[in-house]
This record gives sequence, C-alpha cells and structure tokens, in this order.
Amino acid sequence: MRAPLVALLLLASLPVLASSPGAAQVPTGDAVSGAMIAERWCTACHAVGRSGTPATDGAPTLQSVADRPSTTVMSLSVFLRTPHARMPDLSLTREETDDLVTYILGLRRR
Ligand code: HEC
Repeated sequence: MRAPLVALLLLASLPVLASSPGAAQVPTGDAVSGAMIAERWCTACHAVGRSGTPATDGAPTLQSVADRPSTTVMSLSVFLRTPHARMPDLSLTREETDDLVTYILGLRRR
C-alpha cells in the first residue's frame, strides 16, 4: 500500500525539479561575447559561424552541434566545463561558458 504514496511524492517534487536552475533550458549569456570567444578560441579546430566546413578532422562545426536535437543548455555547459580527451582544456569561466552556449544555441536552424 506504499506505492500510491511514492507516486504522490514524485508528483509533488516535479515542479521543484522543473524550476531548479540546472533544469533551465533558456540560455542566459551574451551571444555577442560568445561569438568573440568562439572566434578567438575555437576556430583553430571548429568552424564557428553559420554552416561552414570543419577546420580539422573530427571537430564538428558548431552549427551542426547546434542543430542536433540532443543539444541543450545543459549538455553544452557540461561539455564545455569538462576536460575532453580530444579537445584542450580551455579553462572557461562560468560566464564565458554561458556566453558560448548562448551563441552556439543561437546558430540553431529552426
Ligand atoms: C584543438 C582543437 C579544438 C579546439 C581549440 C576546440 N575544440 Fe571543440 N572539439 C574538438 C574535437 C576534436 C571535438 C570532437 C571530440 C570528440 O568527438 O571526441 C570537439 C568537440 C566539441 C563539441 C562537442 C560536439 C559533440 O559532438 O557533442 C563542442 C560543443 C565543442 N567542441 C565546442 C568547442 C568550443 C566552444 C571551443 C572554443 C571555446 C572548442 N570546442 C575548441 C577540438 C577542438
């Protein structure tokens, strides 16, 4: 007889989860600043503008990343703030990360 109680608790916690900052899917950075950071730090390997062809093997264009349905504020923020084997650790600040995420998602073709 505990299942209904558990279900009720889960339901009750949904609005809290949805409104937590981590779940926010609206980019809050500065796209212009993000474009400048991308221009400066990412062009060695990525095509950073709209469309474009990859500059080096293996680095996807930022446009193609933006167009993926699986790309979200969360996924990009996590990716950019985690060291990756094939990408140098760029030591981006939280603000720079937000700006980049805002810029990249702004490339998305609707
Ligand atoms: C030295 C080359 C290099 C630089 C500089 C670089 N990247 Fe990358 N990046 C890569 C490579 C290679 C991959 C593919 C990694 C993989 O698939 O394992 C990648 C993957 C990514 C992805 C994930 C794409 C996916 O498949 O989900 C994003 C987003 C990204 N880079 C953004 C950036 C941004 C933003 C910058 C600048 C701040 C940057 N990168 C700078 C080489 C680079």
